[in-house]
Amino acid sequence: MELRSRRISFVVVILLSGFYTYLGTATDTITASRPIRDPETIISNGSDFILGFFNPGNSSNHYLGIWYNKKSEPVVWVANRNKPLIDASGLVTISEDGNLVVLNKQNEVLWSSNVSNSVNNVSAQLLDTGNLVLRDITTGISTWESFQEPTDTFLEGMKLSSHIRTGPIVQLRSWKSPSDPSPGSFSSSVDPSNIPEFFIWNDNRPHWRSGPWNGQVFTGIPYMYSNYLDGFKLLANDEAGLVNFTYLYLNRTTFFVLNSQGIIEERDWFDKENNWEVTFRSQENECDVYGWCGEFGSCNPEKKSICSCLRGFEPKTVQEWNRGNWTSGCVRKSPLQCERKNQTGEVKKEDGFLKLGTMKLPYFAERSSVSVVNCREYCLNNCSCIAYAYDDGIGCMTWTGSLIDLQKFSFGGADLYIRLAHSELEKKDNKVVVIVPVVAGTFTCAICIFFICKWMAKHKALQDKSKKDGMPEKSPPNRIRKDVLLTMSLLLLSLKVASKELLESQTCWVGGLIKGKFQL
Ligand SMILES: *[C@@H]1O[C@H](CO)[C@@H](O)[C@H](O)[C@H]1NC(C)=O
Ligand SMILES: *[C@@H]1O[C@H](CO)[C@@H](O)[C@H](O)[C@H]1NC(C)=O
Ligand SMILES: *[C@@H]1O[C@H](CO)[C@@H](O)[C@H](O)[C@H]1NC(C)=O
Ligand SMILES: *[C@@H]1O[C@H](CO)[C@@H](O)[C@H](O)[C@H]1NC(C)=O
Ligand SMILES: *[C@@H]1O[C@H](CO)[C@@H](O)[C@H](O)[C@H]1NC(C)=O
Repeated sequence: MELRSRRISFVVVILLSGFYTYLGTATDTITASRPIRDPETIISNGSDFILGFFNPGNSSNHYLGIWYNKKSEPVVWVANRNKPLIDASGLVTISEDGNLVVLNKQNEVLWSSNVSNSVNNVSAQLLDTGNLVLRDITTGISTWESFQEPTDTFLEGMKLSSHIRTGPIVQLRSWKSPSDPSPGSFSSSVDPSNIPEFFIWNDNRPHWRSGPWNGQVFTGIPYMYSNYLDGFKLLANDEAGLVNFTYLYLNRTTFFVLNSQGIIEERDWFDKENNWEVTFRSQENECDVYGWCGEFGSCNPEKKSICSCLRGFEPKTVQEWNRGNWTSGCVRKSPLQCERKNQTGEVKKEDGFLKLGTMKLPYFAERSSVSVVNCREYCLNNCSCIAYAYDDGIGCMTWTGSLIDLQKFSFGGADLYIRLAHSELEKKDNKVVVIVPVVAGTFTCAICIFFICKWMAKHKALQDKSKKDGMPEKSPPNRIRKDVLLTMSLLLLSLKVASKELLESQTCWVGGLIKGKFQL
């Protein structure tokens, strides 16, 4: 009897201790008295994220990380990416100096939140945003957050930031490979120069850019126009000289990851499919690689030879260009009139602008407060200005020096106007294509009118004659009118179509010319 009850209480104690252990691991907080040991984990309050040790890909190394508590458990943050644990002896705790630390079997510090002057009574809590926050328990003030030190993943609410002069402060850094979270060569953050945009760098060389931010979208990402992503926000702190990007989507589980090939992928969770799907990739083809076609070159992925020189420019080194090495780009064929005037005082026809539609705008625009009607004039009046563009959200943008990283999109993008010598604009080849139908149309029209008039005159004479002779008319006059009207309206219609085509044509100056002529 006694033995039995003792046995029962023993079982109860075992069960209870198991239960408490379970409660212990189900917490979202690490403290000095409640550390976690590989393979224990903590889970955020709403069960969205888990923190614990993991082995990436086919690696046997152990890392402390945070991952989504969803299918395929994508890892969004790694602590000891520089110093992996080679066994399952890892321990995460709060150190005596109040830092979150990862220790190995020998109590060696492999990673630390590394906050100086921190208090010693702190806890680390994993939030449902995926942010791990180190707090002073007594005051509740946060001393460190994992969002300040992202790995390769940009989560909702995270801020990527750059200083206007010193460059990126909070940035993404790719993994070396899918099995190796140690820092790879690609990084990504805001480029704060002039007009903010997103950049991916490969060892500090530009690798990809988003195009200037216009307050709503990145103008170099056509996808953003079609899938209006109003979740992005630019937060500029002018006093501190900081530019931050953040995003927040309602009702969407989404994250951006800079993969080890230097491509930013957006992944969205779809409840129906119960899976992640890639909904955006920063690089679909070589045209998305920064400066693939060099200076004054334009990339069009739909062309067989994807790089071409802008009109008025020719390859800098023809052999390289023909070999498909486009990086040295193109040079101007005819000097600009404004340059010639400055040098020789020669007076010729003024430079003009060639309109390039649906373009990824080149890098490094300067912004001015000039209005849309004065933007062209503003550029024309300054000989260093070689191109301009206007965007309602940005204003008048101008470029000097060179134009780099241009791409022709099939939709979206912006209109770019490049400055050319008048002679280059006249040489235009598709001008012929556009003008021919109009000239031909006008000519046909004139001939038709001539014949109609002639026929009408003849008919009238015949009518007069038949009236005189008292003979019946050969055809009813109503029918003649109808035929004539029909012919005339058909002609007018074709003319209208031709002129409309012209107005929408690539060259603004020809368009303007025709507009003047046909606005009768
Ligand atoms: C920790 O911070 C100190 C100064 O704040 C810095 O010198 C040191 O490199 C940091 N260590 C690590 C591992 O980040
Ligand atoms: C740490 O904070 C907890 C909760 O406020 C308190 O009970 C405990 O005494 C504090 N410990 C130290 C060493 O200050
Ligand atoms: C977001 O989800 C909530 C509840 O599921 C719904 O009521 C709301 O209409 C949704 N909002 C949008 C913008 O879809
Ligand atoms: C392309 O040409 C540049 C010089 O303009 C050279 O530095 C580079 O190595 C060449 N690239 C290839 C792939 O040949
Ligand atoms: C022309 O533009 C350049 C570059 O933006 C600028 O430095 C220069 O002051 C401008 N010149 C005039 C006369 O406005």
